[in-house]
Amino acid sequence: MGDKRVKCGVVGCGVIANEAYFPAIVEKGELVATCDRIKERARRSMELWGAKEYYTDVEEMLRKSDIDAVFILSGMGMHADHAARAAKAGKHVLVQKPLATSMRDLRKVFNAVKKAGVKALVEPNVQMNPLYLKVKSILEEGTIGEVYWFRAGLGRGAPSWGEETFFTRQAGGPLFDLGVYQIAALTFLLGPASSVAGMAKLSIPDRFIVPDEFFTDHLSHKPYESFWPKLAAAKPTKRIKMEAEDNTFTLLNMRSGSLGCVIANFVTPDGLRTGVGNMPDIEIYGSEGALLVGGPAAISVMTKRKDSKYYLPDGWYCIPKEDFPPWNYYRASTEHFFDCILNDKEPLPSLKWGMHVSEIMIKSIQSSRTGSRLRVSSTF
Ligand SMILES: NC(=O)c1ccc[n+]([C@@H]2O[C@H](COP(=O)([O-])OP(=O)(O)OC[C@H]3O[C@@H](n4cnc5c(N)ncnc54)[C@H](O)[C@@H]3O)[C@@H](O)[C@H]2O)c1
Repeated sequence: MGDKRVKCGVVGCGVIANEAYFPAIVEKGELVATCDRIKERARRSMELWGAKEYYTDVEEMLRKSDIDAVFILSGMGMHADHAARAAKAGKHVLVQKPLATSMRDLRKVFNAVKKAGVKALVEPNVQMNPLYLKVKSILEEGTIGEVYWFRAGLGRGAPSWGEETFFTRQAGGPLFDLGVYQIAALTFLLGPASSVAGMAKLSIPDRFIVPDEFFTDHLSHKPYESFWPKLAAAKPTKRIKMEAEDNTFTLLNMRSGSLGCVIANFVTPDGLRTGVGNMPDIEIYGSEGALLVGGPAAISVMTKRKDSKYYLPDGWYCIPKEDFPPWNYYRASTEHFFDCILNDKEPLPSLKWGMHVSEIMIKSIQSSRTGSRLRVSSTF
């Protein structure tokens, strides 16, 4: 990449900024400005990660700061507005998932990025994930034949922080927080969807989380220490109302012919993935076999095709988890984003794809509220 470093600002100095993106930016880019509407988060993050300045207002940062790119790491319902503002100011944007939680916002951010001609990388980056690249190659080899149906996602408990980040109606709830990962993966693996139907409800309206000060205080320790052990030991004391649907089912009709369901909720006990059930994250079934992602193995394949390298006469061909060491998508995306800016390339997790993923989720919730199946018009 040479010596040139991309000058960066960050909007939203919360958990994921400090856990994942600041370390990656500092390593490969130049962190110039931090911005959070909670002043102490912006100021402490600046000090912790060696930025030059801090702001509490996005517009002020965009006006005053000498930056090329902005990382949008604010709450889920605010990404589109923040990214559109940054693009209008001529800044490249890396946007955490989801790109938007309403069609109005989705059009706004899409048009702003297109008009400005800046780079936009939309998380979550599945396109560079070695696990999904392997799954895609297995499918493309015809191992399970024509794909007919799939099931993806599992619920879990809600985050125990970030009221405005995850729980408000504008934030969107678990479909946009968790289901987004499976919808991202499925669209990468199987291509775009043509229509969607959703069934969603609010099952647990009363919840407890840790107050904002809990994380803000955590930022007063230098150097930064992981928040997760501290959070696990904390007692959530702040009572909040869940506004968004917390129990969601999304039925997808894919343009390539298959049908499937994505489950996303905040109403399931944590730990199912690693517990007795050890359930797969994604299951795909076709004319010649089936493929599971997650569960006891990283990938399990059952095929009737005797010419396939995955054929076993009496069972599943398992690719072990050790073959796929934990992959840090935040770091991979940050490096890729810088590479795209410096060498004029298009990000692999592209704006058009990110738009499609968000349209599916927005229309799923709309469908649930109106009782009608909806066409997904975007594609990638
Ligand atoms: N925490 C995770 O494990 C994780 C993982 C992957 C993706 N994400 C995504 O990252 C985003 C942030 O998640 P988080 O866990 O860091 O949440 P968080 O609540 O810890 O951080 C969000 C921050 O944005 C700030 N903010 C809100 N509105 C603002 C505004 N107008 N201007 C400036 N700052 C503003 C908040 O004050 C807060 O500090 C979410 O969209 C989430 O979906 C989080």
